[in-house]
Amino acid sequence: MKQTIPGLKTPPFLQTLELIANPIRFFDKYQARYGNIFAAQILGNQSSPVFFIGESNAVETIFTAPSNQFQLGKITHVFRPFTGDQSLIMLDGEEHLRQRKLLMPPLHGKRMHLYQDIICELTEEAIQTIPKHQPFSIRKLMADITLKVIMRVVFGLKPGDRSEQLQKLIRDLLDAITNPLYSSLFFFPQLQIDFGQYSPWGHFIRKQSAIDDLIYAEIQERRQQNDKDKTDILSLLLSAQDESGQGMSDQELRDQLITLLLLGHETTASSLAWMFYWVYSSSTVREKLTAEIKALGEHPQPQELIKLPYLNAVCQETLRLYPIALIAQPRVVQETITINETSFSPDSILVPCIYLAHHCEKTFPNAKTFNPERFLNHHFSSSQYFPFGGGSRACIGAAFSLYEMKLIFGTMFAKISLKLTSQSNITPVRRGITIVPSTGVKMQSI
Ligand code: HEM
Repeated sequence: MKQTIPGLKTPPFLQTLELIANPIRFFDKYQARYGNIFAAQILGNQSSPVFFIGESNAVETIFTAPSNQFQLGKITHVFRPFTGDQSLIMLDGEEHLRQRKLLMPPLHGKRMHLYQDIICELTEEAIQTIPKHQPFSIRKLMADITLKVIMRVVFGLKPGDRSEQLQKLIRDLLDAITNPLYSSLFFFPQLQIDFGQYSPWGHFIRKQSAIDDLIYAEIQERRQQNDKDKTDILSLLLSAQDESGQGMSDQELRDQLITLLLLGHETTASSLAWMFYWVYSSSTVREKLTAEIKALGEHPQPQELIKLPYLNAVCQETLRLYPIALIAQPRVVQETITINETSFSPDSILVPCIYLAHHCEKTFPNAKTFNPERFLNHHFSSSQYFPFGGGSRACIGAAFSLYEMKLIFGTMFAKISLKLTSQSNITPVRRGITIVPSTGVKMQSI
């Protein structure tokens, strides 16, 4: 590899700590110093430098390269304790493609529209739980709604014992992961030791095993019921067979289901929390949204909400400014690849960096400012703006989560008057694998 790419000079241990402790500060600092591509030594990958890439041409080369040009799985080990080895996010090659083909359709097109009423109903139920004139956390409220939505979409689970237990366990687990010490364990497999139920790792594996028991119980029950009319993702996976007529094993099913539960709700909830924060911090944005949404009447129809241009621009800008995933999955080079005249040899680790791209001043002038207008009359390419990653690993929930964001936000905005209780001191912080607004964004009904 030609050494044309600037790199961090501090010891690898410090670089890793800096990145884990405050990833936004890490990217801001090194983007200002080195630009949109730089190299770092991140522990866990000592033998190969990690290249963070936010430059549009380079990102395009990565996203359009054939899928066998890169491998990931093995280094995406932060997810493995949650998702297991058979999860879509851990697979490579043919098996990855096969599982993607199975999981994509229910989250797109007509199948996705089946969920519109459920999403709006669950949002209206959540509105009823908002305390009168008392502060509440909008992030928590959003996580409650999106968790219920994903339970329905993935399992077809209606309210009832198993559904409630699962929701509680998942919520507890994700709350625990907010603790920086706890979440750091996922980055260092060698520290993943069970010192009993009160130790962080001991707590994690016990919660995980309780969640697994419930998922396996549901799988068993559904195998016995064999109900062909159900439209949820579990039913679809239960009827899937490979070329030799073999169905998915319980372990494979469990890994895909838990992946969808974990990646499919906190992500959307955190994005919604940011969206509430930005909209309620700016009276201009709020007025424009009010004009657009109120024009649909007191009971806006889901099909109308999802087509609103300003609401769409607000969603896009929310996902630009603090993308809840700062990076796409790291790609490990399999055969030498040349990007912008630099050759990257096998085993180099290329990380399309969403945050660097979205904060490139050339593409997004005044990048630190929330400005939905930039999305109104301008189209950004999929290598300039990619909150959902790209190429053969792009997020399978992209269309679904945008749809969900518009319906949940639009319904809340039309049906309840809210205000922020405090506008100050909101900073981006890491919560598990997503970047969320600190304090959860406290709001109050008026
Ligand atoms: C605002 C919400 C969301 C954001 C910002 C987001 C972002 C991302 C990103 C950046 C990636 C990595 C893409 C890459 O490496 O190129 C990803 C992958 C993934 N996401 Fe999402 N996501 C969201 C919602 C969802 C939802 C709702 C689901 C499922 C219902 C989901 C399931 C997945 C899965 C399974 C992958 C792995 C895909 C693969 O490796 O082939 N995500 N997401």
